[in-house]
Amino acid sequence: MTRMKLAAIAVAGLGLSAAQAADIEVLHWWTSGGEAKSAAELKKMLEAKGDKWKDFAVAGGGGENAMTVLKSRVVSGKAPTAAQVKGPSIQEWGAEGVLANLDPIAKAGNWDSLLPGVVANVMKYKGNYVAVPVNVHRVNWMWVNPEVFKKAGATVPKTWADFPAAAEKLQKAGFIPVAHGGQPWQDFTVFESVVLGVGGPKFYQDALVKLDQKALTSPTMEKSFDTLRQVHKYIDKDAANRDWNLATAMVINGKAGMQFMGDWAKGEFTAAGKVPGKDYLCMPAPGTEHAFTFNIDSFIIFKQSGADAQKAQSDFATAVMSPEFQEVFNLNKGSIPVRSGVSMAKFDDCAKMSAKDFADDAKAGSLVPSIAHQMAVPAATTGAMQDVVTAFFNSNQSSKDAVAKLAAAAKTK
Ligand code: GAL
Repeated sequence: MTRMKLAAIAVAGLGLSAAQAADIEVLHWWTSGGEAKSAAELKKMLEAKGDKWKDFAVAGGGGENAMTVLKSRVVSGKAPTAAQVKGPSIQEWGAEGVLANLDPIAKAGNWDSLLPGVVANVMKYKGNYVAVPVNVHRVNWMWVNPEVFKKAGATVPKTWADFPAAAEKLQKAGFIPVAHGGQPWQDFTVFESVVLGVGGPKFYQDALVKLDQKALTSPTMEKSFDTLRQVHKYIDKDAANRDWNLATAMVINGKAGMQFMGDWAKGEFTAAGKVPGKDYLCMPAPGTEHAFTFNIDSFIIFKQSGADAQKAQSDFATAVMSPEFQEVFNLNKGSIPVRSGVSMAKFDDCAKMSAKDFADDAKAGSLVPSIAHQMAVPAATTGAMQDVVTAFFNSNQSSKDAVAKLAAAAKTK
């Protein structure tokens, strides 16, 4: 996340010049194999409606680069039609007054009854829909190559306490225990799964969503950093700056034993023709079986004038919420449909588990927003906390120091 204050672009943002009439310019960061396949489905669907897709892909998992580019585009009066923006950032953009009101489309499509309340709220600014949701990703997954574990005689860890012994065995057998890409958002993704597994969902909620200082400075947080240090011990020396999908490839091709990553990783396994339960395992990250960190992709749509532009916007939002799109997109993306009324028949066991756990965890109160994927706290706070985790991950800093720094960073507004 860039720390640029949105207020600075408020005025400039209103002078939007729409993309060419009926052009739909879509900013996103879906450039890996599985992601690109998913985005291509949306393009296909819109072109079938006579709209022209203008791809505005900005590479960089997690979307940090995309957000920087989006801000500079809006500042220069060239907002795209739609942009992949999620979580509390939707509210930040809403406050700028640059977003289209999607209520007429939402009413016609019955969104209020199709979307879970927790999702609908995030899509609304002051009670009006300003974003359309695409999917539900689960972040607290561990992707396992069972063959590698077998060859090493190691047992897949169920808790973080089990992790070092398993990792040690994989290493001794000549494998890279943990496939990781050393980019801040990936470090932060591992961190949130560690916190969830070490402290449980209530602790996660207190520390990383409510930003409660007592939780942030607790021994549990210190233990979380200790555990993250353990994970670092078992990544390879070439991890720095590796893209997440290349790390997934290391699990796919049997170089590494496991990866801690959200289920967009499954999109890579799927694109490689791999079958869950046979070629790879999807398991909750250690200690997180009864919790679910959600990450909901969505698009904001910018205000535009002209009948053509408005038709294009409406086509876009309607297509995204259609059961046909929700099915084909999520089959490729690794996520699950965000709206009700989509058959899960074609989905694999990982997706079915995700759908069941999403519902169960929502009931049990163990459904929590992903902080690493911008669902939990404002962008500036997310960025400051992510910096602390990355600095720790890449140094010899003590867990005590990191705890103090994280608690301070949580106050960033
Ligand atoms: C996430 C996003 C996913 C995904 C991932 C890696 O933030 O929600 O859709 O693709 O980044 O690029």
